[in-house]
Amino acid sequence: MSLPDSPPSSLPQLFWSRTVYIVAIVTFVLLWMFTWSWQDGPIVPTDQRDSEATNHYAAKIDLLVDLPKNKQLCTSDTYNNGQWVKKPIQLEAETAAAVEKAVKYHCAWNFPHKCYRRNNEGGEFDRARHILDYQWKPKKCELVPFDANKLSAYIADHPLLFVGDSINQLEFESMACLLGEKLYNPPGDTNITGGNQNMWASQLVHENKLQVQGAVSLAYLRSDYLVRLDDFKLLDPMDEEGYVIGKGSNYPWKHALSRFHHIVLNTGPHWHTDKKWGPHESDEEMVAAYRKAMKVVFDHLIENLTPVQRVWIRSTPYGHLKCSQYTEPSKVPHVPQRKPGEYQWDMHVKFDEVWKDLIEEYADDRVKFFNISSMANLRGDAHSRPDSDCLHTCLPGPVDDWNKLLFSEIAREAARIP
Ligand SMILES: *[C@@H]1O[C@H](CO)[C@@H](O)[C@H](O)[C@H]1NC(C)=O
Ligand SMILES: *[C@@H]1O[C@H](CO)[C@@H](O)[C@H](O)[C@H]1NC(C)=O
Repeated sequence: MSLPDSPPSSLPQLFWSRTVYIVAIVTFVLLWMFTWSWQDGPIVPTDQRDSEATNHYAAKIDLLVDLPKNKQLCTSDTYNNGQWVKKPIQLEAETAAAVEKAVKYHCAWNFPHKCYRRNNEGGEFDRARHILDYQWKPKKCELVPFDANKLSAYIADHPLLFVGDSINQLEFESMACLLGEKLYNPPGDTNITGGNQNMWASQLVHENKLQVQGAVSLAYLRSDYLVRLDDFKLLDPMDEEGYVIGKGSNYPWKHALSRFHHIVLNTGPHWHTDKKWGPHESDEEMVAAYRKAMKVVFDHLIENLTPVQRVWIRSTPYGHLKCSQYTEPSKVPHVPQRKPGEYQWDMHVKFDEVWKDLIEEYADDRVKFFNISSMANLRGDAHSRPDSDCLHTCLPGPVDDWNKLLFSEIAREAARIP
């Protein structure tokens, strides 16, 4: 700002000097416009705002990025054929902030599996950074290169929902960190819980949609089983949760489906043999119950998805017994053997088979299998709490690679359809 040539010598002179007068008026007008725009949102008139909030996502599929030419692009199965190769990350300093910078994480808040923030817990920082020294390399194919800004802008118009247990929460958190630079807490109530006061939900909105009432770009709803275990009902917002096996939450989610263009579903690790499935508490009874329940989910999807919505059923990797013994990714998988302390992880592949059978049976392009198992199963070294939590993995970590695959899948899907 330039000062007047001869500074006014007294207050009245200053007040009436023409420059100051003009600056004051301009400032007043600008402030008035700014305040008005934030309160009433002239960018989106009220009637238009309502219709956007009910349509929730663009009615068509838009290109996410141009696909690379002359490359063999991965499917989720071909991506899983590969190995973890050592490629140490470079840190500017041995600090949590340097880790976030190196992996391009934008999520200042804490959550349970951020192992690199445990700087007061012995060697946890070193262990967490060492997990990042490996990158998944598929043998014969390539992903569409991950672009955080493109994806966050894309989900502003084509929102992405994760539904499932804490492993899907982990995938949501990874995605929230990778895209976090442009995502915010929604400024008002989005009604993502459908009015259920007892339910929590994780939700973020892209900066471009901050003024669209109710807009959500990325969300996670916790449902450990996807259905109510008593009657395999897909819960409505006010329904009772019913019986659950062990700790967790089984919240309703079907009410939110119509608000999202892309949906990632999973359930598995919370399913255990139980009297509920039959008198023998056998594996067979449990898998039969799982199949029956997932058919309910599948039927609902097939009947209710619009032509542009896409659902990915994520595969269920297993944990690693006494995982502190692993200090680097394995070359061959260490398959669970139904030992004590393994929480029936050997059943996870059976759950995958149920989904793959259903996907094959229905042959509906809107529902796809999302395989991350082979790459995840080799990471006995990446678990969250050796040896007390040998199922979840640290973030950042291998789950970021799941999301890089998801990016590629969404990009391929968006380019396939005109
Ligand atoms: C995942 O992909 C790998 C490699 O193609 C394959 O061997 C494996 O059977 C797949 N897993 C599932 C659960 O489909
Ligand atoms: C909130 O969502 C529920 C379930 O989708 C719906 O029935 C209810 O009308 C919504 N409430 C408001 C205020 O939009």
